[in-house]
Amino acid sequence: MKEFNLTTKMRSYQWNELTEEQQEVLRVAKSQTEHSYCPYSHFHVGAAAKLGNGVIIPGCNQENAAYPSGLCAERSALFAAGAQYPEQPVKMLGIACFTGGHFTKEPGSPCGACRQVMLETEHRYGGKMEVLLYGEDAIYVFESAADLLPLIFVSENLKG
Ligand code: THU
Repeated sequence: MKEFNLTTKMRSYQWNELTEEQQEVLRVAKSQTEHSYCPYSHFHVGAAAKLGNGVIIPGCNQENAAYPSGLCAERSALFAAGAQYPEQPVKMLGIACFTGGHFTKEPGSPCGACRQVMLETEHRYGGKMEVLLYGEDAIYVFESAADLLPLIFVSENLKG
């Protein structure tokens, strides 16, 4: 038996330590929480994907009475980006969560399915996608989506 410790890298920032570009992406993610359709969870999630050409594609969670039919904010934004600008890499993805009348103090953590889609996006364009998780008390920054998902499953794995 061998035991492994898998490590990952994450940085924690205050708002005024972020670059203008990071702040802009997070502003879009935050404002997108107002468009969330979340009558069941009342948990508003906004996302913003910044592309290589500078365009920012927004997304937000879309719920459904048949629960699994809904979609998370991150995937809404990434799939919309892929549909509208299939040739453009996604350079940055910002996420913000709003519930109970305020943005969450701690950053919201993307679900497993969204992490997998982030990985596919990063892999598809062959470059790193920075992920920004907004919280009122701290903003977590991951240099690459791969830092959110160890032991990734990507197209090469299908070849065996
Ligand atoms: N949600 C997201 O939009 N992104 C995530 O990564 C986690 C969860 C949404 C799905 C659902 O509409 C609500 O948050 C509560 O789970």
